[in-house]
Amino acid sequence: MSARLDERRLATGVLVIGTGAAGLRAAIELQEQGVQVLCVGKRRRDDAHTVLAAGGINAALGTMDPADSWEQHAADTLKESYWLADPRAVEVLCREAPGAIDDLVRFGARLAREDDGRLTQRFFGAHRYRRTCFAGDYTGREIQLALVRRATELGVAIRDDLYVTRLLVHDGRVFGAYGFDVDDGSRQLVLADAVVLAAGGHTRIWRRSSSRRDENTGDAMRLAAEAGCRLRDMELVQFHPTGMVFPEEAAGTLVTEAVRGEGGILRNARGERFMERYDAERLELSSRDRVALANYTEIVEGRGTEHGGVLLDVTHLDRRVVLERLPRMYRQFVDLAMVDITRSVMEVAPTAHYSMGGIRVEPETHATDVEGLFAVGECASGVHGANRLGGNSLAECLVFGRIVGRETARVAAGLDVHVRDRAAIDAARDEVSEALARRGDEFARPLQRELRDLMTECCGVVRTEAELELGLRRLEELAARARILEVRPDLAGYADLAHAFDLAGSLLAARATLESALERRETRGAHNRADYPTQDPALGVNLVWSPEGVTREAVAPLPAAIAALVDEQELDVSGRLLE
Ligand code: FUM
Repeated sequence: MSARLDERRLATGVLVIGTGAAGLRAAIELQEQGVQVLCVGKRRRDDAHTVLAAGGINAALGTMDPADSWEQHAADTLKESYWLADPRAVEVLCREAPGAIDDLVRFGARLAREDDGRLTQRFFGAHRYRRTCFAGDYTGREIQLALVRRATELGVAIRDDLYVTRLLVHDGRVFGAYGFDVDDGSRQLVLADAVVLAAGGHTRIWRRSSSRRDENTGDAMRLAAEAGCRLRDMELVQFHPTGMVFPEEAAGTLVTEAVRGEGGILRNARGERFMERYDAERLELSSRDRVALANYTEIVEGRGTEHGGVLLDVTHLDRRVVLERLPRMYRQFVDLAMVDITRSVMEVAPTAHYSMGGIRVEPETHATDVEGLFAVGECASGVHGANRLGGNSLAECLVFGRIVGRETARVAAGLDVHVRDRAAIDAARDEVSEALARRGDEFARPLQRELRDLMTECCGVVRTEAELELGLRRLEELAARARILEVRPDLAGYADLAHAFDLAGSLLAARATLESALERRETRGAHNRADYPTQDPALGVNLVWSPEGVTREAVAPLPAAIAALVDEQELDVSGRLLE
């Protein structure tokens, strides 16, 4: 097929796909270095997924607990990853996180402070010290707005309406991307010297998810895999212990860990503080995987509430503390469930929250398998292993966002010749044209719903071989139906076309997740296999997925200085829950 008349051709130094914290931080770094950058997203920049991050961002500042250090932060992160995180990436994250906080303050983010002006830090689960900075429970929103402001001041070119359908690759090197304008459907060909993928994870493919509709649909994983990248540890998906369960329309919405950090108590329907049975030392501030499994177990064993949840209680806390430190939770429960959390308990259950696996990247640079292509934020893998510490993702976005900005600036500056491949562009054009021309009986929305049911039933908090295999068979049927998908753009825009590509991303991400989950025949962190209930030392490896199958990759050795700080004792937080 030939070029279309309604196709717009753009050229830039670096193309950043995604306008959340990771993408914007990369774009800011590029613009500060004087490199031309275009940052594109599929929703309004001040409403990127980052705004949902609630409770905080980690950095070993030692403002509350002076004994803290970046090395201790690294030790906690590696231990809680069940030794699957890459120690080199974790070292970069923890060493550079304090600098990321300095940047945020420089960009005007209003993080909470003590009366004497120190940045305050709260406890998050499984951290040795208080090292989570916050802005009430609107931390992600505050960070996102500060980044948007800074990017605007610098004049970063941002588009909120561009859906990327394909990365353009010639001979193993990326040279741009193809997509369409979600409002008017016009095609967009963007030529670039380097590309940053910062387009989120795949947790919206479960029925209960802390992501909103059309977010985290796995599109970053599809773009990367089709460009020639490998994915890693896709089975390692974090279920946050506390998502809303009621009303049904709000089910999955995040109930921040900060609720427990501020002293919230979990109880089952019998009134038992059940965490005493699962982690008597750390109780509600145990690691996320354990609290999620505890909540799940209470519910499936019949000690849950009528709506299928457990109870989270802050009614014993001073009302002013709740309003000051948890204002979003207060508002969320009043708005969505007509519940005043200072007077009544919340009902909560696990919700799919974070893709700990994702695109395979180099630990220090976040370069992918495709030359000139970098991945950062939730779509990348390496920092969290089998269990992410709450508060580490915002830190990851800022630390590695800056790094990929620097790396892509270097790539763009060092490029002598850049080949553009007409056949690759034609293939991208044809893909969109074919999607629009196809006629069939299926529509994207119902298939997305069926996929969420499939993943929930076959690959949820607890998994078995039989369920995973059933999931793969059901997935094949769904994928066949997706081939006769009809797309109907209308006067309201091209959202339907975006849903079709979202679905393609979700199908690929689901396949990678199910196939990797089958191969991990053990229980480790968030990956619970009822048929393999213990950890297998031989599986202390990363699982690398490509359409050809799953292979194993050794994890880099733990540096001795960090190993010495790993405390095999469980942490005693008694007396520190109520700050
Ligand atoms: O619970 C929360 O506020 C989530 C934080 C995180 O996932 O890092």
